[in-house]
Amino acid sequence: MAVDPALVEAGEKVFKKCKACHKVGEGAKNGTGPMLNGIVGQAAGAVDGFRYSKPMQAAAGDGLAWTHEALAEFLANPKGYMKGTKMSFAGLKKPDEIEAVIAYLASFEG
Ligand code: HEM
Repeated sequence: MAVDPALVEAGEKVFKKCKACHKVGEGAKNGTGPMLNGIVGQAAGAVDGFRYSKPMQAAAGDGLAWTHEALAEFLANPKGYMKGTKMSFAGLKKPDEIEAVIAYLASFEG
């Protein structure tokens, strides 16, 4: 899919809400949350060296993958989407913020 640079740029601003826990880009390491290079389209719960919650491990075992659609649902309401996730984040309320941050994340390869 063609990437819209303006959307990626908007997503970089939205990602400020995620940065306390997640890193992306060259040399990104796990922190409170897993590093997110290559996350769009990737299997859930699969970042090396990160200790996921039980529900995230179970979802991973069931084959959850972070498609655009799954990611949009998760980011809108993490704890509603996955009961017991240790991602302590209220969620992104605006659909355009969700679209932008997904475009931003998609700009980083795994
Ligand atoms: C997990 C994205 C905000 C902490 C995840 C995952 C994604 C994600 C895609 C799944 C990773 C995987 O399956 O490997 C985002 C985005 C955010 C955000 C885009 C901002 C809009 C935060 C914040 C925190 C946080 C603010 C900390 C307060 C975590 C943790 C996990 C996680 C601990 C692992 C969850 C589990 O094992 O249940 N995040 N996140 N995230 N995130 Fe976030």
